[in-house]
Amino acid sequence: MKKIKIFLIAVFSVFIVSCESNTYSEISAPAVNPTYVANVEPIIRHNCLSCHFGTNQSPNLETYDGVKNACLNTNLICRIESESCGERMPLGGRLAQSDIDLIKLWTTEGFVKE
Ligand code: HEC
Repeated sequence: MKKIKIFLIAVFSVFIVSCESNTYSEISAPAVNPTYVANVEPIIRHNCLSCHFGTNQSPNLETYDGVKNACLNTNLICRIESESCGERMPLGGRLAQSDIDLIKLWTTEGFVKE
């Protein structure tokens, strides 16, 4: 009987620990030290490339350099954050606040690529 009790406690603790560590990584992974490859590129691909590809619509946001240049030279941050520099991007919508925060953090941390 005692053995079963200990076994149950052990199983239960493993369960609790694994739940906790999952929650922890879900919350902390995207927010700390975002990189272009892991974090920024997927947001741009899903929300911007339908218009900003090739010569279709300037700025071209298909590459790391294109996105970095747009942040430095064409007010990309201001465009995704407010209407004070022109129409808010993506045109006709808006990014989730967590995505806006992530791209801002990426720029202030120096545009880490990967
Ligand atoms: C539905 C099409 C469409 C989507 C999607 C879109 N844009 Fe745009 N974007 C435009 C158009 C059209 C312009 C030019 C007109 C203007 O400046 O408002 C533009 C202009 C811009 C500019 C200003 C360029 C300059 O030279 O001043 C930036 C920066 C920009 N977009 C970034 C983005 C970002 C970042 C996303 C995704 C979060 C995005 N856009 C999604 C159509 C789009």
